[in-house]
Amino acid sequence: MIGALRLAISSRISDKDDFKHILITSDKDDSKVLIYPDSHGNIIYKHNGKESQILTAEIPELVEKLARSGYHHLTCECWSGIMQIDIPSEKRGKLKINYSQPTSLPDLGEDKNLIDIDEASELLEAMEILNSEGHMTDNMRRKYVQVDSFIKLVYPLLKKSSQQKKVKILDCGTGKSYLSFAMNYFLREKMRRSCHFYCVDTNSELLEKCRRIKNQLNYDNMEFRVSSIMGYTPPEKVDIVCSLHACDTATDEAIAKAIKLDAPFLLVVPCCQHEIIDQLKEHPLKAIARHGVYKARLADLLTDAMRTLVLEVAGYKVSVSEYVSPIYTPKNIMIQAERIQNKNPMAMKQYIDLKSTFGDISMKLEDMLRDFFSNQI
Ligand SMILES: C[S@@+](CC[C@H](N)C(=O)[O-])C[C@H]1O[C@@H](n2cnc3c(N)ncnc32)[C@H](O)[C@@H]1O
Repeated sequence: MIGALRLAISSRISDKDDFKHILITSDKDDSKVLIYPDSHGNIIYKHNGKESQILTAEIPELVEKLARSGYHHLTCECWSGIMQIDIPSEKRGKLKINYSQPTSLPDLGEDKNLIDIDEASELLEAMEILNSEGHMTDNMRRKYVQVDSFIKLVYPLLKKSSQQKKVKILDCGTGKSYLSFAMNYFLREKMRRSCHFYCVDTNSELLEKCRRIKNQLNYDNMEFRVSSIMGYTPPEKVDIVCSLHACDTATDEAIAKAIKLDAPFLLVVPCCQHEIIDQLKEHPLKAIARHGVYKARLADLLTDAMRTLVLEVAGYKVSVSEYVSPIYTPKNIMIQAERIQNKNPMAMKQYIDLKSTFGDISMKLEDMLRDFFSNQI
C-alpha cells in the first residue's frame, strides 16, 4: 500500500511546472499539511503554521510518514488535474485513488473574450492592463484585445494535442510579455494544461519587470532571457513559436528560429518593416510606388509575402489573416504556419521570381537561413 502511495505521488510531482500543491489532512483532528512550490520554485512544507523548505525528492517519504501517523486524506492538485487519495487505516487495505480532469473546455464564441476581465483581474492588474482602480485605458484595451485574439488562434492548436501533453512555448521579442502572461493564465487556469514559457528579448529592463510580475503571480513555469532571438536556443524542443509585433527584422528572426528549431507551429504578427522599402527602385509596379504611402504598403506586403514563401519552402503550411480589426492595431496581419514537411518546389520558384521582379531585393531572413537552405535559395 505504501509503495503504491509513493508511486502515485511521485508520478504527479515529477513535472515541476505542473505541480500545484499537496494537502493532507489528519483523521484525528483538524491538522493539515500543505506542500507547495513557492514563487522561486522552492518546495515549502507547511504544518501547524510552521514552514520549512524541503526537496521534491523528499515529498513521497514525508507523505508516507504522515500516512503512518493518521493523515489519511490527500489531495494532490496539479494544473493538468486533481488526484485524491484515501489511505486506509489498516495495513492491508487498498488505496482509493480518484483522478479528475476538467471536462469542459472554454467556449470560443465569436464575440466572447477568452480572458474574462473580472475573473482574470489579478493577472490584468499585475500586467498593468487594468490600472489600480480596476480600469482599462483605451490604449490598454487595444493591447488586451490583441492578446485575447492571438490566444484565440492558439487555442485550437492546443485542443489538437492530448490534455496530458506539456506545452512549451517560445515568445520572441516578448517585451512586457503581455501575450505570454495571458497565455500562461489561459493554459493553466482555464485549460488546466501543464506548460512552460521561454520569453526572449534584448531589453533587460523590460525582462526584469517581467520577472517581478512572474514572482507576484507565482508563475514559476516562465523564463525570461535577455538575448537576440537568433542568439537564443531553448533547452528543449518547443511546440509553438510566437511573436507579437517584434520590430522590423526581429520578426524574421522569429521565423528563422522556428524553422531552425523545427517547431510544429509558428504564429507571428509582424510590426514595422524597414528592410525592403529602400530597395524598391526598379520594378514593374513603379507607378504605384510613386506615392510614399503606397510604397510603404507595397514594401510591407512584399516582405510578408516573401516570409510566407520562405516558410512554405521550409515545409510549412501557411495561412494569413487579419487577426483583429485594424481599429485595435494597423499591424494586424497574422502569419500562421504549421509544419507539414512537404517539399514545395513551387514556393521556391515563386520566391525567386518575386525577388527578381522587384530588382533582386535581399532579405536578412535569407541570410539567417543560409546554412539551412544551403543552395535552395
Ligand atoms: C513592439 S515591442 C513588442 C513587445 C511585445 N511582444 C508586445 O506585443 O507587447 C518589440 C520588442 O521586440 C524586442 N526586440 C527587437 N529586436 C529584437 C531582437 N533582435 N531579439 C529579441 N528581441 C528584440 C524589443 O526590445 C521590444 O521589446
